[in-house]
Amino acid sequence: MTTAEESTADYVRLLDPAVRPNPYPLFARLREAGPFRIGTAPVVVVTSHADCTAVLRDPRVSVDRSLAKLQLGSMPIYDAAKTTAAQAKPSFLFLDPPDHTRLRRLVSKAFTPRVVQRLEPRITEIVDDILDKRSAAGTFDAVTEFAYPLPVTVICELLGVPLADEAQLSHWSSLLARTLDPTSRQATEFRADPAQVQRAGTELSTYFERLTEHRRATPGPDLLSELIAAEDAGDMLTHEELISTCALLLVAGHETTVNLIANATLALLRRPDELAALRANPERAQAIVEETLRFDPPVQLIPRIAADDLTVGDIDIRRGDLVVMLIAAAQRDPAVFTDPDRFDPSRDNRHLAFGLGAHFCLGAPLARLEARVALTRFAHRVEAPRLITDPPVYREHVNLRGPAHMPLEFSAILPR
Ligand code: HEM
Repeated sequence: MTTAEESTADYVRLLDPAVRPNPYPLFARLREAGPFRIGTAPVVVVTSHADCTAVLRDPRVSVDRSLAKLQLGSMPIYDAAKTTAAQAKPSFLFLDPPDHTRLRRLVSKAFTPRVVQRLEPRITEIVDDILDKRSAAGTFDAVTEFAYPLPVTVICELLGVPLADEAQLSHWSSLLARTLDPTSRQATEFRADPAQVQRAGTELSTYFERLTEHRRATPGPDLLSELIAAEDAGDMLTHEELISTCALLLVAGHETTVNLIANATLALLRRPDELAALRANPERAQAIVEETLRFDPPVQLIPRIAADDLTVGDIDIRRGDLVVMLIAAAQRDPAVFTDPDRFDPSRDNRHLAFGLGAHFCLGAPLARLEARVALTRFAHRVEAPRLITDPPVYREHVNLRGPAHMPLEFSAILPR
């Protein structure tokens, strides 16, 4: 039986980069101990599938961080966003209705499954172009030279952001993704530099200010131009909301699907039989994507703030408490998934990788499509791929977790 002190220590250990290649034994301990309160802090950690599902559906929890009792720099908390300029004007990820509903509606039509499906030929072309570029060499990095360029190209094209600015955007986006990590007073060495993060927020906002000015004069067939038209049309969204929506979509498009593609590629490289089966039958790709979302989720935890008192298990949650849902633990809950540590694409998959309820991931259809096409083309075209280093080196991000590099060897890239 784990004590409350041990569970708090386990939670803090999640921040240690040494845990990043395989945090799942630690998540298993946390799940068995949960739900639990972090010491006397206003932070409750929720870990089982049933409890995470119940909290995500509970109308008494909010995404509005201004309701949190915790102040900056206190106990293990989810606070860094408070340090960013973006926090002054939160994106709709951090807004409750009615603002959330109004802003989400403005962009949601660009992300419906039907609209996204039309992108399949373009997505296939991007993946094939990426693989064509690798054909001369006998090695490539499956993160930086395969998983990363696809989602980034797609989100830049959708938003209307010049791909030439990519290096700069990726730098800001990676820093801003750190604002989604838990932090801890006991482990400040694992914290991103708050001043650097704040600067990234300000610079990204300034970047979108300039791009908006330019696009206002020369509109294009992109989401930014549509949002500018909505702003001009009257009371649909303010200028600050336009900027924070663009920043949200840019960061979401940069920091998540890359991990899904990389984690799925890693799962296949570690299981040559699965890779061979996918090559023989491309229809398997969707199930492999879903199982990767469960087994090795690109978003490992979801935070909420209690807007009212509630009870989870035997823990009383009070108004203003931060509630951290460890979905990476919940998705290996043996109460829901048989043999949960086994990668099994054929299982009935009730994962929580895209969240649940009003904030369910807007980009889920796009992420699924991109990952399916990337895996299918990889299996079809890359002959005899082999990981050079296993486990790969991971990025430092705790929540949006994924490999930084994944060098692999191959014997040939087949023609399209
Ligand atoms: C595998 C890839 C992805 C994963 C695992 C993922 C995961 C998630 C999760 C868990 C949430 C809910 C957060 C919460 O409830 O607090 C979310 C929200 C969101 N995601 Fe994704 N995401 C992915 C890709 C994308 C992409 C490609 C986009 C679009 C460019 C996107 C845009 C968004 C937006 C706008 C929200 C906020 C929705 C709202 O607040 O109503 N995501 N995502």
